[in-house]
Amino acid sequence: MTKISTTRLDEMKASGEKIVSLTAYDASFATVLDEAGIEIILVGDSLGMVLHGEDSTLNVTMEDMIYHTRQVVTGTRHAMIVVDMPYKSYLNPAQALSNAKRLLNEGGADVVKLERGEQNICEIVRHIVSHDIPVCGHLGLTPQSIEELGGYKVQGRDPAAAKQIKLDALALQEAGASMLVLECVPSSLAASITSELGIPVIGIGAGAECDGQVLVIYDILGISGHQAKFSKDFLGAAHSIQDAVKTYVSAVKSGDFPAIEHQFS
Ligand code: KIV
Repeated sequence: MTKISTTRLDEMKASGEKIVSLTAYDASFATVLDEAGIEIILVGDSLGMVLHGEDSTLNVTMEDMIYHTRQVVTGTRHAMIVVDMPYKSYLNPAQALSNAKRLLNEGGADVVKLERGEQNICEIVRHIVSHDIPVCGHLGLTPQSIEELGGYKVQGRDPAAAKQIKLDALALQEAGASMLVLECVPSSLAASITSELGIPVIGIGAGAECDGQVLVIYDILGISGHQAKFSKDFLGAAHSIQDAVKTYVSAVKSGDFPAIEHQFS
């Protein structure tokens, strides 16, 4: 089976086939996801919360991301591996490029992901992309800005905030981002951004109209301590972790997940 490329994701957006993604942080889970046919494995800095037990992603380091990316790469044959650039690892274009190269060269990442979409972030994206490193943007609820956002809250509910998220999405695309994660925004806003952008939009708490869906693996296995509205425990009704992951893949592909109760208005 061939490795998933950004071209393949573009084709899936064009044809309307849903893109499926989950997080993984080690080789064993990566193999389960890969064998279930997941297109994107995200080595998220959510590992700071679900592996390290912290209440934010802010203490995750480059060394953490490289360590876990190497494990995921070992367990993966087919899926694209997108890796989060940790907090404060992309403060300026030179530092961002140097750290993005480390995630590819030392970790084995295929794509790097960074949060927010202001002008300085778009300059950083442009710089990384100009060195042939694919970038995934991340807008809406951006966990690295949790202190500024005042908590894990739905973003883009008022018209000005919605307009800004859409402008940021267009600016990230213009800067060369290959795809975008939209987290915790009203479904109508995500639908409108998904139809305006040429690049794939992967939602988490962003409704059913996105080109694809991503969730944290421990959330779909019901072991994160709490069930967010936008997530679902797929293990409860399954016989095994493999079965739960396959059920999630089928539910995203068929459009059964996310259902209305997992969405924000
Ligand atoms: O870190 C992460 O797992 C993420 C997802 C929640 C999108 O960024």
